[in-house]
Amino acid sequence: MVATSECISCEVKNGVLLITINRPDKLNALNKQTIEELHETLVEAENQNDIRAVILTGAGQKAFVAGADIAEFSNFSVEQGKQLSAIGHFKIFNFIENFSKPIVAAVNGFALGGGLELAMACHLRVVSDNAKMGLPEVSLGLIPGYGGTQRLAQLVGKGKAFEMVVTADMINAQDAYKWGLANYVTTQEELLNKCFEITTKISSKSPTAIKTAIKVINAGYNNNLNGFEVEIEEFGKLFGSKDFREGVDAFLEKRKAAFTGE
Ligand code: COA
Repeated sequence: MVATSECISCEVKNGVLLITINRPDKLNALNKQTIEELHETLVEAENQNDIRAVILTGAGQKAFVAGADIAEFSNFSVEQGKQLSAIGHFKIFNFIENFSKPIVAAVNGFALGGGLELAMACHLRVVSDNAKMGLPEVSLGLIPGYGGTQRLAQLVGKGKAFEMVVTADMINAQDAYKWGLANYVTTQEELLNKCFEITTKISSKSPTAIKTAIKVINAGYNNNLNGFEVEIEEFGKLFGSKDFREGVDAFLEKRKAAFTGE
């Protein structure tokens, strides 16, 4: 069972897990404990068959996540800095990107540094109209270390990625939408409703096919794989799934499919 912990609140509604990062006094900055708890929550959610999609948001009205916890790494050595990045990639950012169920970021305010990197690791981003998004690490003498140098360019293109990283400028929700960083922009009040509208659609589809789609889309961004070859292989495998049988039977019998994820 996914459970609420000190820095993470969890709520399951109709097969959708809503995860709220809950450190509003620190604008939900990602400290070590939050990273650990978020990882544990995701591992639980991955193994729970009745969870079909996840929404990830931040507590309060001001911030999604204002970045990695600066106070925590202020005295880090070179080796500790490298570890911070590597552990984050492994436990959260790559973990989310390769999660078998779609994760929608509900960006309800500042998404800076590790906060924007977290939103970018998610499969979709819905952004409230007060949001401010940016990678300000060069202001601290750093670079984005949770995948931001790679994922920002994938989402907005290399030119805009260079601009955002080297100027450290924040962009607003409308620009994020125009540049492809946000799938939708809503008011703060409507933000979670929009996310639930999307995840409700996801929940009615084949979990097996969705898991495969995530794997194959990500394969195209993996330099060690040929996305087209992975697609051919995985497309074929789906013909052996119960979900395929159910989806096709339901279509031919003119009824709604009841997928089990097998
Ligand atoms: N790490 C640790 N603490 C953070 C934080 C972060 N990334 N971002 C905000 N906080 C803390 C502040 O220190 C402050 O704590 P305090 O009340 O104990 O002093 C609290 O959250 C509120 O932030 P504050 O700066 O007072 O709010 P603001 O409205 O004046 O400014 C921001 C909001 C987002 C512009 C500002 O907090 C900021 O620039 N944060 C850092 C963003 C960043 O560089 N992120 C990348 C990190 S690699």
